[in-house]
Amino acid sequence: MHAGTLIVGASQAGVQLAVSLRDLGEQGPITLIGDEKHAPYQRPPLSKSFLGGDVGVEQLWLRSPEYLADQAISVITGALVETVELAGSGPGGVARTAGGGEVHFDRLALTVGARPRRLAVPGADLDGVTYLRTADDAAKLRQMQRDAQSVVVVGGGFIGLEAAAVARAQGKAVTVVEAADRLIGRAVAPVVSDFYHAAHTRRGVTVRLDTSVSALTGRKCQVESVELSDGSAIPADLVIVGIGVEPRTELADQLGLTCDGGIVVDSHARTSNPGVVAAGDCTVQPNPVTGRGMVRLESVQNAIGQAKTAAATLAGRVEPSTAVPWFWSDQFDLKLQIARLSPGHDDFVVRGNPEQESFSVLCYRDGALLAVDAVNAAADYMAVRKALAQGSTILAEDARNPGVALRDRIGPPTVSA
Ligand code: NAI
Repeated sequence: MHAGTLIVGASQAGVQLAVSLRDLGEQGPITLIGDEKHAPYQRPPLSKSFLGGDVGVEQLWLRSPEYLADQAISVITGALVETVELAGSGPGGVARTAGGGEVHFDRLALTVGARPRRLAVPGADLDGVTYLRTADDAAKLRQMQRDAQSVVVVGGGFIGLEAAAVARAQGKAVTVVEAADRLIGRAVAPVVSDFYHAAHTRRGVTVRLDTSVSALTGRKCQVESVELSDGSAIPADLVIVGIGVEPRTELADQLGLTCDGGIVVDSHARTSNPGVVAAGDCTVQPNPVTGRGMVRLESVQNAIGQAKTAAATLAGRVEPSTAVPWFWSDQFDLKLQIARLSPGHDDFVVRGNPEQESFSVLCYRDGALLAVDAVNAAADYMAVRKALAQGSTILAEDARNPGVALRDRIGPPTVSA
């Protein structure tokens, strides 16, 4: 078949790229191809409402099949692209699927995402050991969780803590095993890590920091116990592994694109072959905040923003992404909202009271406002996000005054956002 613009990877970034390209006036065929059997859907609810309830995948659709058909965006599901070749230096070429299908394209975009890192210990292939990335993973986990009594979660990042909260809310005995010395260490300030440790503990979750898994053991192929690095063991009939993701770079490697912890793109979402764009979790890009070094931003907001940039590039426009990165996480009744990235801060202000489970942490570097982590504190989050988006600041001395509303203390723009 002839795809026109072929977008490999039918998830958040891929759908956005297709829709934005059409919005920008693309007249030719646009084809999205993905290996999952479902129409493109939202992943964030998988570790939250989907896991804890009876939501169906069709309730998570990113766009209805009717809308996509109306936009003349073809969606091929259940087709794993195994090889891709450019004709000469591109941009046209051919993709081949595991089922033997051949798709010719004029232009190529890679929005192939990431896959869960696998736990590499003896017994990791026992039944009852599971990962959470796709709707099928989540549906299987939801089923397994119904019968489970003792759940061990390996990894205290976003996936691990959200899954732990769902399992605990269902009355299971839950232990989180985290290799680092704090929870969600990649994303939040230490004071927020300490808060989540306390909040999960208060709700009956056991948290083991500085601990790794040495083996999983069981009988008749079913996991029964998790053996830890300190020599102890925890009974478990369900083990949920959330120890990070690895970008899917195999197609980029085939094309000889530069990869370094992800497909390397510039601020216009161009790969090292400027005819091929890439967006979403599979990419590493220039740090949009500091401009120094490369980062992988694993978030819905980045997938959407970078996909819009990639569409603009394909449409011949130059629109680097300038949005403020933001993230969120729901655990129990705790809503965490993060604007920009706090690593690298040298000062912070805590507003509100972590013990009352409503507070925000404003992070500063060299006196400049860097990021906010807010828990059940939407007003502070919105004020900081607004300040960062317009390149202004909120002084630490103002933030330290609990009597002031941050939205009233946003200064004039000082730097470009
Ligand atoms: P993550 O990188 O957020 O957290 C992984 C955690 O596992 C880290 O704390 C790490 O120290 C720990 N770890 C690594 N190896 C370990 C080991 N062998 N034993 C014990 N702990 C170990 O990745 P996570 O939670 O797996 O999430 C996967 C992806 O899904 C990420 O891209 C994440 O951003 C995304 N996600 C985002 C959500 C959000 O924004 N609310 C919610 C759920 C997932």
